[in-house]
Amino acid sequence: MSVSSSAGSVHVRAPGKINVYLGVGGRHDDGYHALATVFQAVSLYEDVIASPASDFSITVSGVDDPDTVPLDDRNLAMRAAKLLAAAADYDGGVALEIRKSVPVAGGMGGGSADAAAALVACDALWGTGFSQARLHELAARLGADVPFALHGGTAVGTGRGDQLNPALARGRFDWVLVASDEGLSTPLVYERLDALRDEEGAFADDPPLSLDVPVPVLQALRSGDAEELAASLFNDLQAAATDVRPDLDEMIGLGVRAGALQGIVSGSGPTVALLCADPESAQQVQAALRESRIESLHVHGPVPGARILS
Ligand code: C5P
Repeated sequence: MSVSSSAGSVHVRAPGKINVYLGVGGRHDDGYHALATVFQAVSLYEDVIASPASDFSITVSGVDDPDTVPLDDRNLAMRAAKLLAAAADYDGGVALEIRKSVPVAGGMGGGSADAAAALVACDALWGTGFSQARLHELAARLGADVPFALHGGTAVGTGRGDQLNPALARGRFDWVLVASDEGLSTPLVYERLDALRDEEGAFADDPPLSLDVPVPVLQALRSGDAEELAASLFNDLQAAATDVRPDLDEMIGLGVRAGALQGIVSGSGPTVALLCADPESAQQVQAALRESRIESLHVHGPVPGARILS
């Protein structure tokens, strides 16, 4: 990342993600849960334009309700810019313009994509020249999903989800996404999972703090076979998300009846991701959903991580 920047702006694009597999283990002392997950970056992007400024500011477009995105230090992109400035001993600021396409609080890592894009954009704007490894380390401090938004493609995440290993994925997978008007809080969904497990007595004595991704998931990705992947889609957070929002289960059922191979709650939800056999099938699923007045988006994965466009 060695674009020098004296004057102009830097435009970076980072993708949203779907967890095609998400196994959640016990809770560590720091409150985070052990994860074994497989991320796939999909063609729904956040754009961040970083321009020179003496202090730090953010503007956001592309959201229906501006109140859902904070413009201060609660915004992960703002925190990313400030973290990079501190790490690089940079004493200027930046004006960040965020153009959102990934649903807010939708379980697709939109905020994490903003943070990853802000890191890459500010690194270029300020001529910081940090290595990918250093940016990854800063990303992991910002949130569990931020390293993946830098990385992109398809990857296995362990630890808190921030320790990444690339996974081989052949071909392309077509997804139809159904977003919700109202977001879901990620901490709330994890809390609900803990409560459900407590009720069942599961994991009470022996919470596993390290987990593996099942081999069939990795095999399905390697073969590029959507039907195989559909059979191994799994998300431990789904039970918790649908406990809060039972309509998500209904949406998955509707998607499958409309012709999707399988559906899953994306991350902590509430976005539902419907895996389809091919682009034509995805269009048919969209058309069938439209008849029930349900708007959806057709995306594909895998796609690259945070990249400088100009
Ligand atoms: O890291 P991030 O800010 O995305 O995480 C949001 C919240 O999700 C955490 O504060 C925590 O409550 C929950 N979380 C978790 N275990 C993980 C990742 C996230 O409990 N591995």
